[in-house]
Amino acid sequence: MASSYSSSSFSAAAIIALAVVLVAFTGSSSAQLSTGFYSKTCPKVFSTVESAVRSAIAQEARLGASLLRLHFHDCFVNGCDGSILLDDTSSFTGEKTAGPNNRSVRGFRVVDDIKSKVEKVCPGVVSCADILAITARDSVVILGGPSWDVKVGRRDSKTASFSDANSGVIPPPTSTLANLINRFSSKGLSAKDMVALSGAHTIGKARCLVFRDRIYNETNIDSSFAKKRQDQCPRNTGGRKNLAPLDVETPTTFDNKYYDNLIEEKGLLHSDQILYNGGSTDSLVKTYSKDAKTFNDDFVTAMIKMGDIDPLTGSNGEIRLNCRKAN
Ligand code: HEM
Ligand SMILES: *[C@@H]1O[C@H](CO)[C@@H](O)[C@H](O)[C@H]1NC(C)=O
Ligand SMILES: *[C@@H]1O[C@H](CO)[C@@H](O)[C@H](O)[C@H]1NC(C)=O
Repeated sequence: MASSYSSSSFSAAAIIALAVVLVAFTGSSSAQLSTGFYSKTCPKVFSTVESAVRSAIAQEARLGASLLRLHFHDCFVNGCDGSILLDDTSSFTGEKTAGPNNRSVRGFRVVDDIKSKVEKVCPGVVSCADILAITARDSVVILGGPSWDVKVGRRDSKTASFSDANSGVIPPPTSTLANLINRFSSKGLSAKDMVALSGAHTIGKARCLVFRDRIYNETNIDSSFAKKRQDQCPRNTGGRKNLAPLDVETPTTFDNKYYDNLIEEKGLLHSDQILYNGGSTDSLVKTYSKDAKTFNDDFVTAMIKMGDIDPLTGSNGEIRLNCRKAN
């Protein structure tokens, strides 16, 4: 692009100006997030969130998985801006009932509880988008996974979009490997990030309706595993909401067993097994299965990148007082 304009000094100056604007613009997507953003204004935010996440997980381990997934679904739809938390209003239908979320994402009451605790220690300071990023990290740690310093400073959107959440930005479980790679790539995440982030399926559950075709129709599946899952997920009618763990071995521990499952053809979702099916990501799956440290490191790197997707910063957006509605 630059070379086609570089014939005069006037346009050379224009290019420099444009480059400065571009750097400022693209750089701003994460440059204003930092781990110390609340160190003066809300030094207790991390301990407040952590103890609330800990008590939620003590009541139900799956909530850790649900909170981690909320951050992912928030970030992939118009950036990490808390939009997934907004209830529908008379002026917009939000993301909660969009295909990837409807009857599936959960943990909203825990987020409300955390938000009200945070509001008590520092009113009007901490965004809902940041609360999602912190709860995601805390959930991973509490369930036995790696830790990292969470960058904060995101602000909250004033609106949410049903159609954007339905547009395919969140890939469906029927995705091909190419589609998964593309969807993550369009968010600035590499194939490696995608494979590492899929390791989040080491915790949590899925409904029969999202894995039915796989357990009845696919051939790259361990037959005794398929039979076991079929017991709770009938082929033709009923049972759509019946749950099965995404990780057959250790469903409430954040570890690298998910990748062992894939090597044994015990991935629950089509989109899980496709990561180990003779394609370009097989070798990474083998690495993560053998080497927990490499998995942990790559997962952390990818979580930080995911948390950097298009945040609202500066004077954009707002700090919502109630995560369910704009101020
Ligand atoms: C690679 C593309 C991905 C696809 C196709 C996918 C798809 C799914 C599906 C279909 C479910 C079950 C939903 C239901 O039955 O209601 C699920 C659950 C889950 N996903 Fe993913 N996912 C992907 C990536 C991710 C990422 C990047 C994360 C987080 C970093 C994540 C975290 C989770 C968790 C923790 C659960 C369990 C939630 C719970 O038990 O409440 N997933 N995913
Ligand atoms: C959400 O799921 C419920 C129950 O399956 C269904 O009745 C409703 O129509 C769904 N909403 C949308 C927007 O698809
Ligand atoms: C499996 O494939 C058959 C034939 O294509 C199709 O009719 C059926 O709906 C698929 N799913 C299940 C759960 O059997």
